[in-house]
Amino acid sequence: MPKLYIETVGCQMNLLDSELVVASLRKEGYELTSSKAEADTILFNTCSVRQHAEDKIYSALGRLKDAKKKNPEKVIGVMGCMAQKDQKLIFDRAPFVDIVVGPGQLQRIPELIRNARGKNEHQLAVSLGRKEGTRDTIERSHESFDPLRDPTMRPTPFQAYVRIMIGCDKFCTYCIVPSVRGPEQSRPPAHIIAEAKQLAAEGCKEINLLGQTVNSYKVREGDRTWRLSDLLTALHDIEGIDRLKFVTSYPKDMTDDLLAAVRDLPKCAKYLHVPVQSGSDAVLKRMKRGYTVAEYREMLARAYEWIPGVAVTSDFIVGFCGETEEEFQLTMDIVRESRFKNSFIFKYSERPGTKGAELYPDDVPEEVKKRRNNELLALQNEISEEDNHAFLERRVEVLVEGPSKSEERRGHDHDHEGGEGHTLQLTGRTMCDRIVVFDGNPRQIGQTLPITIYDANAHTLFGAVVTEHVGMELFSLGV
Ligand code: SAH
Ligand code: SF4
Ligand code: F3S
Repeated sequence: MPKLYIETVGCQMNLLDSELVVASLRKEGYELTSSKAEADTILFNTCSVRQHAEDKIYSALGRLKDAKKKNPEKVIGVMGCMAQKDQKLIFDRAPFVDIVVGPGQLQRIPELIRNARGKNEHQLAVSLGRKEGTRDTIERSHESFDPLRDPTMRPTPFQAYVRIMIGCDKFCTYCIVPSVRGPEQSRPPAHIIAEAKQLAAEGCKEINLLGQTVNSYKVREGDRTWRLSDLLTALHDIEGIDRLKFVTSYPKDMTDDLLAAVRDLPKCAKYLHVPVQSGSDAVLKRMKRGYTVAEYREMLARAYEWIPGVAVTSDFIVGFCGETEEEFQLTMDIVRESRFKNSFIFKYSERPGTKGAELYPDDVPEEVKKRRNNELLALQNEISEEDNHAFLERRVEVLVEGPSKSEERRGHDHDHEGGEGHTLQLTGRTMCDRIVVFDGNPRQIGQTLPITIYDANAHTLFGAVVTEHVGMELFSLGV
């Protein structure tokens, strides 16, 4: 059997794309390996969102040069967003790479590998750029082949991503995503529902709907319009699915029907990822985010009011072009008042080809970006810890995902069968997406358990499985 090594960086879209590529190559007889040396085919699924992500891939590629020289039969491929962005440049910088394939052309990978094997010819498959055709031809050049799935490539056997949209039309000035992932396109509801049913039949309990601006989902069918709230309602009826999540939400599209759906559908996680990016109107304007801080505040107040206990998370970019100390302090203010469960904080990284790179100089010094990043993170951590402490003594419902990170580091055998009687540290998430660590049995993986929390830090709740009182009473009666 030919062996495939695949390495994935970037967002959940890329994790899902890698799952689909693995599924398509398994059909060709491939099996996975975790060793680059053993592999017949090596694929890197890449990200272009920040320079650092690209640099790491180019150095990983550099380290493969000798391996390719020793074994010219080895096929090396670069897929994903950096493939779409850099195209031929990848062959210039790393001539021993055989395949460059963009995220809208992944269905061609088996054929490209066959063509590349043994030949000395570069294989390039990319989609049209945003100015290289009509909307229609550009859209058609970004294909998605979602029905192919591979259970071994999921976050856990009980959790799966389902794509409901591809692309993005928002064109925030700092962001490369619209040019590498193409125009925003929503997938037909029937396809999404069929895929979710198939996943449920395979034992999936949690489905995470993916889109760059997932709450902008819109499909017109005759005189009916499907929005994200309609989709959640339809998916809610699928037997076997216990939890529904969606990422990433765009602040301006957080409509009342969606908040009501999250509140009223018991299977919907009470969790929203709605990045604000900055607390300054002037910065938001330069970013072309399309809302003001006041509008974001209003949206957030509505979410907290409508959905009791909802957890909200955000992304931030610090050191965006021209960001003054006062503007940064406004970002500190929005973090102070918003009580996000957590925040993902990034230092601005200029992306050639974006409006931001064209219009504004990247003029905030690196050490200032670093300091602002640390300051914002310290504030967020303080808030996360405070809010997590509110869970002490409380009982939460946890979907058990598997052994905790420290358990995995200890290298325990967490075989489902071999677990009779032995305890290990497990991890899972609450309905509001908080991570919970507790001692349990391997057989509990995949179950939803009641857990009482006894300790907490900024990132994790620590708890114990609730043993029902009725059991205790029966025991004391001698039954
Ligand atoms: N579609 C999602 C996120 C896309 S990228 C959304 O609209 O929120 C994920 C995060 O990376 C963004 O939210 C932003 O905070 C960050 N990001 C995007 N481009 C960046 C850049 N050029 N430099 C630094 N961070 C960036
Ligand atoms: Fe990028 Fe903005 Fe689109 Fe998100 S909404 S993917 S940040 S352009
Ligand atoms: Fe990166 Fe592409 Fe996702 S640029 S963040 S992998 S859409």
